[in-house]
Amino acid sequence: MGFFTPANEKVAADIASRYPRRRSAMIPLLHLAQEQEGWVTGPAMEQIAELTGTTPVEVLGTGSFYEMFKFHPVGRYLVNVCTNISCQLLGAEDLLEHVESSLGVRAGSTTDDGLFTIEEVECVAACTEAPCFTVNYRYFHRATPVLFDEVVADLRAGESPLARGGAADDGPMPEHGTLARNRQRIPVRSRAGVVPPEDVNDPPAWMPTEAAADG
Ligand code: FES
Repeated sequence: MGFFTPANEKVAADIASRYPRRRSAMIPLLHLAQEQEGWVTGPAMEQIAELTGTTPVEVLGTGSFYEMFKFHPVGRYLVNVCTNISCQLLGAEDLLEHVESSLGVRAGSTTDDGLFTIEEVECVAACTEAPCFTVNYRYFHRATPVLFDEVVADLRAGESPLARGGAADDGPMPEHGTLARNRQRIPVRSRAGVVPPEDVNDPPAWMPTEAAADG
């Protein structure tokens, strides 16, 4: 029996039919598999290999290049805590310690109830809002232990925490495994000035002027 549900079999066939070379469908099929199960299982890799005319090892070799495809079970809520430099300078290590102690598992592990997996991650590209964590790739900005506890309490109560921590309310928290429907939103006040090249008259502030260089 195949891995995909009957409904997803049809989606998978449609995806595969769009590519002149079947193996080109591998990445979208990995997305579909992860959306179905929350992670990419062995049977999923076997069926993707059949659909793309490859082998399960090739599917694993391709998919495992991408950090966001998971090849092991992951909790319903994947908590990524950024501890890269901007976040680290603003307390990310304390935040991670709090996340681990409050959930009772270390980074890289899943809570016994299967609800939360913690990962310590590199920069998630929201440095102006550091420190940050994400849950199922939804962003929580300027994070504190209190914010994290509130988010967890909301999730345990079946409520949306997305109004908290500067996270835009983009609809319900995505099911784990959903990767392609997440968009980050940096608040307007924190965005770099975006000016069309033809409107730029001054050198960037960081570039030394001749006068300053002579002096
Ligand atoms: S260092 Fe944490 S978001 Fe960039």
